[in-house]
Amino acid sequence: MILSSCGSSSAPQIPVGPNGESDTELSTGRAVWTKHCASCHGSSGQGGRGHKLNDGEIFRIYPEVDGLLNVISVGKGQGMPAFGSKLSDEEIAAVSRYIREILN
Ligand code: HEC
Repeated sequence: MILSSCGSSSAPQIPVGPNGESDTELSTGRAVWTKHCASCHGSSGQGGRGHKLNDGEIFRIYPEVDGLLNVISVGKGQGMPAFGSKLSDEEIAAVSRYIREILN
């Protein structure tokens, strides 16, 4: 259950459905984002050490989700770590959905 208040330093919440349930995959995605990505990309993807990820550019660079899954798995350039051995495929898929559907 998500009862915490939404401070500017916490990642955007998942919408809650009429019956009070939220999408479990998106919840996983948010948890992965908070733990592994927010430190570089900002809690809401506003950017920092890593690129801004909440300005829609992600859909131009990676129009298909596969490209996004791939860059998270293998990393990019000097700064973006490869997460393929740290996160499961399910976690990578979940955080990709969180980026595309919640941060976008
Ligand atoms: C240690 C800091 C760091 C962490 C942690 C990190 N990133 Fe990155 N990320 C970067 C940097 C720096 C770049 C830019 C790499 C480049 O373009 O050379 C980047 C690039 C990206 C890109 C590609 C953007 C583009 O323009 O192609 C995506 C997508 C991304 N990160 C997602 C994630 C996700 C999801 C996580 C967590 C699972 C994560 N990052 C964790 C630093 C980080």
